[in-house]
Formats: sequence, structure tokens, C-alpha cells
Amino acid sequence: MTTTPANFRDDIHRVDFLSPYASPKADASTLIDLGGRQIESLDGPWHFAIDPNDQCLRARWFEEKYTDDQGRPLPMNFSFDEWEEVPVPSCWNVLESEWMWFEGSGVYVRDLDFQPGGPGERVFLRFGGAAYAGYVFLNGDYLGWHRGGSTPFCFEVTGKLGATNRLVVVVRNAREVENVPTNNFDWFNYGGLHRGVGLVRLPATFVKAASVTLVPDGSFSTVAVSVTVDGAERDGQAQVEIPELGLTGLVDVSGGVGGAEFQVTPELWSPENPRLYDVVVRYGSDVWSDRVGFREIRVDGREILLNGSPVFLRGVCCHEESDTHGRSLTEEEIRDTFRIAKDMGCNFMRLAHYPHSGATSRIADEVGILLWEEIPVYWAIMFDSPDTLADADNQLRELILRDRNRASVIIWSVGNENADTDARLAFMSGLVDTCHDLDPTRLVSAACLVNPVIPAISDRLVDKLDIIGVNEYYGWYDPDFTKLPALFENSHPSKPVIITEFGADATPGLHGDTGQLYTEDHQQQVYQHQIEVLSTIDYIKGTTPWIFYDFRCPRRTHVLQGYYNRKGLLSPDKTHHKLAYTTMQNWYQSMM
Ligand code: GCU
Repeated sequence: MTTTPANFRDDIHRVDFLSPYASPKADASTLIDLGGRQIESLDGPWHFAIDPNDQCLRARWFEEKYTDDQGRPLPMNFSFDEWEEVPVPSCWNVLESEWMWFEGSGVYVRDLDFQPGGPGERVFLRFGGAAYAGYVFLNGDYLGWHRGGSTPFCFEVTGKLGATNRLVVVVRNAREVENVPTNNFDWFNYGGLHRGVGLVRLPATFVKAASVTLVPDGSFSTVAVSVTVDGAERDGQAQVEIPELGLTGLVDVSGGVGGAEFQVTPELWSPENPRLYDVVVRYGSDVWSDRVGFREIRVDGREILLNGSPVFLRGVCCHEESDTHGRSLTEEEIRDTFRIAKDMGCNFMRLAHYPHSGATSRIADEVGILLWEEIPVYWAIMFDSPDTLADADNQLRELILRDRNRASVIIWSVGNENADTDARLAFMSGLVDTCHDLDPTRLVSAACLVNPVIPAISDRLVDKLDIIGVNEYYGWYDPDFTKLPALFENSHPSKPVIITEFGADATPGLHGDTGQLYTEDHQQQVYQHQIEVLSTIDYIKGTTPWIFYDFRCPRRTHVLQGYYNRKGLLSPDKTHHKLAYTTMQNWYQSMM
């Protein structure tokens, strides 16, 4: 057994500095589905510094021990209250030029005044997202950590808050091979508290989660309500109200869970008619509420049925990025993206390759855009690692718990472009099962690679999927366009196919002949050839070309890329429409 040397000092000798923080961990089991409930925002200015050597975690800065046991002052390598202030939510990469490429620990600090509420009140901290992992300390004590950079998490702080409090959050966006995604991916590695932070006050027993969805049985008149409560009163009745439908119903809750179905005839939600209803679930003194749309999405053979009618998903892929705010998009930026997408003729968007913000799916509910939501099981993650699977599965559960009341979300995607190995098949088949277990009302897919030699759709995962996503780049990565029709002639899917990626790079404003790579003219020709073929394949029920707008990408160093992936139909700020935008718009509008 190794003994600790007499001169051991933790902060400079401990190599594995993260293991002391391995638990507790916030995950889907501790996440509270707020629904539309309000929270006390902690957004705004926080003190911040980058911490390239992870000193806050190594030397336990969060304990703030400014004197020794005899009260003599000690030298510190930090000064929380004198650090510069940054806005939360934000990504540090876009705040200071010297932070642009920083990957590691960022330390956020703020004070928090607190007045306790009534008896039995329970209090929680809720984070909308911390990329990639967040370690949370309250008044010098470790609350725990969360991993998975794009999903919300909560910590209970009941009884831990005084009149004034110190909150320290270490956010680490270091790329680790065991992470989801792993340490190699084709987008920019933003870091920070990039989504909102807040305080939630709830009664001693409260509604932890509720789902209110149309049962996909073709009747369009059966609403299933499930309720989970947290607290001592785990047996009782919840009251469900949908006033505009004249519904007031009871749900028996036993052991903290309950469910019931009710016969109602809602006006169905669709992109053309994004009808939302106020829903209330009461349990004891708690009131959960949300605005919910009722729609049905099903597969019938090789058709996708929205509210019983075949639908073609006129989509486009999109990263969660604004040139100005990185991953912390404003509501205006989100609405702007959806507006331009609808102008292009879209009724659908593939939110690549990780969960976008909860605001995004809520706005999609309002404006009427169908969504594909995805977890970043991307390329070559550690498919043989149980811990990596646990991370992926938890991100998926948190995403589903957050968005399962969003009518706009019709497809959960368990990943993108993964090599068809036995380990990957087992790993992703398990994720598909998680989706179907947690949410029988939506479809499950993944963006699969094609067999480049034959060519054919031959990924073994497709047997588990409701819809087959296919990424193909004929005309770009494979210049041989004759393989595109061959791909479909060689494939005989029994279920709908969405072409989840095709495209080509084009530097905005660069023109030349159609044979010249990186010109808008070449990109437009690729789109024209693609559409000529895709429009003839009857089992293709959707397309989401790659990608709506150019995005930052460290892998793209060609002088005409400039650390951007230039496959956008728009420039990064969405002000410039490339020639291919109109090509895509003409095709989609011809279907409307
Ligand atoms: C891949 C991948 C994308 C990537 C794109 C590209 O298919 O899914 O994330 O950005 O192709 O190479 O531009």
C-alpha cells in the first residue's frame, strides 16, 4: 500500500487531482423538470479567471483559507473579488481574445444573498449547462459535479444557505478521450457557464417531473399524463388541468409516481399551426405548469406521418453558434435562425451534434419548426468504456427529461457518423432502448455512415432505428457523383430515410467556375446534382443539408476556411446568402 510521503503537499504533488471530486454527481436522477415554473435568476456579472493549471481544484481555493491556524495571513494565488467580471451565461472564448482558444478550467465566483421562505421550503441550484464539466462549491463546501456540456443539472441546497453566501463554480472544457464527444470533433470547443443559472424554491413535496403528451394511437384524442413527485408525501393524487380543453382530471400517485390517460380533442400542433395549450399539474401545495402542443409522429412503412398525414421533412442542419456569443445564443438569435429557415422553406431542423438550449425547443414550439435533437456520440468515442456509456446515457436522459413536453421535438438521435463495430452497435443499441423506454411518443434515429465501397446503406444500427439517417458527401469528399444513384439502387430500406448530411464548402462571396472548389458556384452545382438525385428516391422522406451557416472549426485551416467550416448556406453572421441557399429554397418551396 503506498504511503503518503511526509513532505506531501496535495496541491503540488497529487497527479490525479480530479478523483477527490468524483462524487457526488448531478445527473438525470437529480434533475428537476421545471416546466414553465419561474426561477430566481443568478445570471449577470460573476467574477472570473481562466485557471490553466487547474489550481482551484488542486489547491482548494474554494475553501478561501486566507490565514493560518494562528490567524497569520497566508499568500494566495487568487483574488476572487478582484478578478474581472464576466456575464453569465456566456462562453469565455468570445469574451477576451486571449481566452479564445483556451481549454481547461475556468473559475466563476459570485456572492448570493438569501432570505429563507416558509416552513418546509426546499431550495435548489439549477444550471442550464456547463461545458464540459462543472464542479460546484457553496460556502467552501463541495456540492458535486456534472458532466456533459449541454444539458441542465440541479443541486439541492436546502439548509445550506445563510443570509450571504459564496458560490464558486469550476467549469472544465478540457477535451478528454473518455468524454462524449471524445477529444476530436468538427466544431469549436466553447467553454463556460453558457446557459442560465438560478435558484428554485419548492415545497417539501413537489412535482419533480411531469409529461403531458398525445398517445400515438392514431385517435388524436388521448392525452397521457405522467407525474413524478419528490418528498415525503409520495402517495396521493395530482390534479391535471387543461382549461381550454375543459379538462380537470386526477392522477393517482403511488410511491412517488403516477400516470393516467384522458380523452380530449385538442387542436393538433403542426409547423403550419403551432397551437399550444396551458397545462397545470397540482400536487399538494405545488403547482407545475407548462405550455404544450399536442401532435402525433409515427412511422408507417417508409412514410413519416405527422398527425396521420405523410410529411416530407424539409430541413437543414445547424450548430448552436452565433459569431458574437458562441454557444450562448440570445433569444433574438434563435428566433432569427428559425425565421430564415422558414423563409428557405424549412419545416424541420437537425440540431447538431449536441443538445441545444431549452429555449431553442421552446421557441420552435412557438414558431412551428420540427426538430431532430441529438447527443454528441460523435465519430470515435470510447464505445468499449462503461463509464463513457454512462455519460452518453445520462446526457440522453437529461435531454429527454428536459424536452419531452416539446411538440417541436419529433426525433431523438443517438449519434453521428460512428464506425459500425460490435462495441458501437451494443453501445448505441442501448441508447436507442433508453429513448424508447423513456419516451414512446417520439422516433429514434442516428446519422449513419454509408458503406463507401459498395456503396450502400449497410450500417447494422439501422435495424434498431425508426428512421434511418444517412450522411453522404458525393460531390465533395467523394467527387464521384455516379455513386449517389448507385447508393440508392444498392439499398433497400424498410423504413424512412432522411439524408442527414450532404454539402460542400464555399467561402462566402468567392466565385469562379463550377469546377473550382470552395467557390459558391461549385457548392451550388453540388446542391443541384444532389437534389436531382434525392428528389427521385421515394423512400427519402427528409433532407437536412450540412449546414445552415458557417461555423468556427479548429480543424479547418485552409486559407479559404480560416478556422471555419465553410459548408454553410449562409455566412457565419447569417447576413450573406450563398448561391446554394436559393437552390435549396427553390426545391423546398416547390414542395409547399
Ligand atoms: C461530417 C460531420 C460534421 C462535419 C461535416 C464536415 O459529416 O457529421 O460534423 O462538420 O461532416 O465534414 O463538414
